[in-house]
Amino acid sequence: MPFLTAEGQTYSKGLENVVAAISAISAIDGKEGILIYRGIDIEALAKHSNFGESSYLLLFGDLPNKHELEHFCADLFGARELPENVVNCLKSLPPDPHPMDILKLALAHAALYDPDKNRMNRKAKIRKAIRIIAQLPTITAFYHRARQGKEFIMPNPELDHAANFLYMLSGKEPDPEDAKIFDIALVLHLDHGLNASTFSALVTASTLSDMHSAIVSAIGTLKGPLHGGANERVLDMLEEIGRPEKAEKYIMNALKEKRKIMGFGHRVYKTMDPRAKILKEYAIKLSDKYNDRRLIDIALKVEEVMKREVSKKGIYPNVDFYSGIVYKFLGIPKDLYTPVFAIARVVGWTAHVLEYTEANRIFRPRVLYNGPIDREYIPLEQRP
Ligand SMILES: CC(C)(COP(=O)(O)OP(=O)(O)OC[C@H]1O[C@@H](n2cnc3c(N)ncnc32)[C@H](O)[C@@H]1OP(=O)(O)O)[C@@H](O)C(=O)NCCC(=O)NCCS
Repeated sequence: MPFLTAEGQTYSKGLENVVAAISAISAIDGKEGILIYRGIDIEALAKHSNFGESSYLLLFGDLPNKHELEHFCADLFGARELPENVVNCLKSLPPDPHPMDILKLALAHAALYDPDKNRMNRKAKIRKAIRIIAQLPTITAFYHRARQGKEFIMPNPELDHAANFLYMLSGKEPDPEDAKIFDIALVLHLDHGLNASTFSALVTASTLSDMHSAIVSAIGTLKGPLHGGANERVLDMLEEIGRPEKAEKYIMNALKEKRKIMGFGHRVYKTMDPRAKILKEYAIKLSDKYNDRRLIDIALKVEEVMKREVSKKGIYPNVDFYSGIVYKFLGIPKDLYTPVFAIARVVGWTAHVLEYTEANRIFRPRVLYNGPIDREYIPLEQRP
């Protein structure tokens, strides 16, 4: 029965535990709750590094020296502006689009004007990666300004990646401490092994399609609530719960009804996600700084109930559980949380595309066919 089995292949639903690539970019110890970028623990990077430096590390393999870092940041800061036609397009959007659809649309549009669009060599791919990393924050901020009927705020070359994004959103230079916390949140989201969106980028790139197409695929994959869309839903849930004393009943009901609690569980981590640990610290810090503990107190109660009820199954807070509270205090609207995830993760996507295509092989898995065989073709006029 040649249709019924993919010969010599094993089947794993959702590709669980399947190794589909070899990479030196990042690694996860799901048992111990450790994440490393190019060998360096993210706790150390969150403490000592920043978006520019950690992005260089992921893209090129080593921490940059002073000259390399200056050069890289100058390239990144200099590539923030969008082609004029893309800017004009962002001024005439349909009503209420999903912001991730705008990221896909504007990036695919920007690809048409990319000076390297017909070049596929490594140097051109790096230039495209830098432009895409630089442009996603501008697209997100312009979209947000356009939907409010406000003027676009042009990128400020004096501000780093994190501070400039917050500035382009609001038109005000952010509090330096808040900008630093946002920078740390970006560092924590830069890369995460072969997650669904990175895999999507690699599938597209493995056909020798271009960098922009690979990143557009990844953005579409990140949009889903089981991946990048979870932090937005965490905030919805915390707001729905309303008060810490209502958390116990809400969670117990949800678990009874077999509903998934957003911001919990992970395919790889079977303990607390190390990124969640750091974001929790900053969510508490910002709640105290702005004297508003409403959401954090509900979140802490939810975590307590979940720990008691489901930690034995290996379900703990993931990166999305506390990030929404952090972003809320930084003035980022809820529906931009997933684009913000993309603004950081694009570094990992591009780094993986650069790495994978150096020793490329097209992704082409098999499917285990379980449909009928030997059916006769029935002409249209004889069908019931
Ligand atoms: C991340 C996620 C998709 C991983 O899924 P997965 O590895 O396929 O795990 P499963 O969905 O098969 O879950 C395994 C078990 O844990 C339970 N579980 C997993 N996540 C849960 C959650 N968030 N809340 C309650 N129970 C959960 C499942 O109900 C299942 O229980 P069962 O074995 O009794 O049926 C899943 O944990 C999830 O949907 N989490 C919520 C969304 C989220 O926060 N996503 C962001 C990820 S960074």
